[in-house]
Amino acid sequence: MNTQYQIADTSAIFSPALLFYKDLIRRNIAAIIETAGALDRLRPHVKTHKTREVVRMQLEAGITKFKCATLAEAEMLATCSAPDVLLAYPLVGPNCGRFALLCAKYPQTRFSVLVDHPAGAKALSEAMKRTGQQAEVLIDLDVGQHRTGVAAGPAAAELYRLLASLPGLKPAGFHVYDGHNHQEALGDRRQAVEKLLAPVLELRALLEKDGLPVPRIVGGGTPTFPVWAKLKIPGLECSPGTCVLHDHGYGSKFNEMTFTPAALLLTRVISRPTPTRVTLDLGYKAVASDPPAGQRLILLDVPDYQTVLQNEEHLVIETPAADKFPPGTEVYAVPTHICPTCAMHRQAYVIQNGKLTGQWDIVARDRALSI
Ligand SMILES: Cc1ncc(COP(=O)(O)O)c(C=O)c1O
Repeated sequence: MNTQYQIADTSAIFSPALLFYKDLIRRNIAAIIETAGALDRLRPHVKTHKTREVVRMQLEAGITKFKCATLAEAEMLATCSAPDVLLAYPLVGPNCGRFALLCAKYPQTRFSVLVDHPAGAKALSEAMKRTGQQAEVLIDLDVGQHRTGVAAGPAAAELYRLLASLPGLKPAGFHVYDGHNHQEALGDRRQAVEKLLAPVLELRALLEKDGLPVPRIVGGGTPTFPVWAKLKIPGLECSPGTCVLHDHGYGSKFNEMTFTPAALLLTRVISRPTPTRVTLDLGYKAVASDPPAGQRLILLDVPDYQTVLQNEEHLVIETPAADKFPPGTEVYAVPTHICPTCAMHRQAYVIQNGKLTGQWDIVARDRALSI
């Protein structure tokens, strides 16, 4: 077992448990800052950890700008006095009014938000106007993921002009998330980013020629972070999320990455129903099930195992070494996708220097805090 994950006394840890290794999180934050090259080029996403204490560690390291996906995450950031928060999600329905309330309640935080359609822009403008405030708005550009956004072309230019004309809104740049760029080779990721950037920079030039500044471009997640970080583009901010905790999904795919898995799961053997079969208390209520069954985690130090079944509260494996895993045996696991895994746990157990030192609330796993 990798000694950096060992815990001296686990008797107060109820499994299945989410473990946060504070020193490793600190190390990942330092590696993120080093990769970005400068603090003002960094806007990490907090969806991965959803935790005030991790935000505070990032603030202590000098990070001032953050990205989030929900109003609860935005409020969590505001309650930590984060200076600058981008809510990177299109707002519709009551969320426009909630965003206006958020801006009014936390005036010490500078908020911005995304828009990708005139309907969203108008609804947001109404909500901001009602409370006498102004929101900075970035256009969400669809650069190939086709999840949200508008392509960098005439409709995007039109939308940016609309933002400049609507009361309560101020156009403030582009959001350029390329979550589809998962090419294994770094060179392939670099080529893909260069290709998607050409129309984005053209659009920026066009708008600026028309007297509409595009001060910020917020780009990328973890896979393309090393690529974006090297670009010399004015107002560029990199927005990786996962790498603060890192996981098996990215760790096993992108071998150039220097991040360390800093959030593990502790599970215990609960049964050994056949001579070669071991059942652990690590069902899919404790680990994200967006990866296919059998690929949702890796167990550390379990030789030659195969996952044969996972239910809500059970993980069943086959291993020739089953006799070494009597009920009660503790096993550590690295989740494949840490972000939704965190959201499945109310709290994380905090480990420092091999000891349990406390618990942190995954406070923004809920959809709403006070607003
Ligand atoms: C809009 C947006 N930005 C940034 C990120 C962070 O990406 P990653 O998880 O690859 O670090 C995500 C992740 O889903 C995202 O949806």
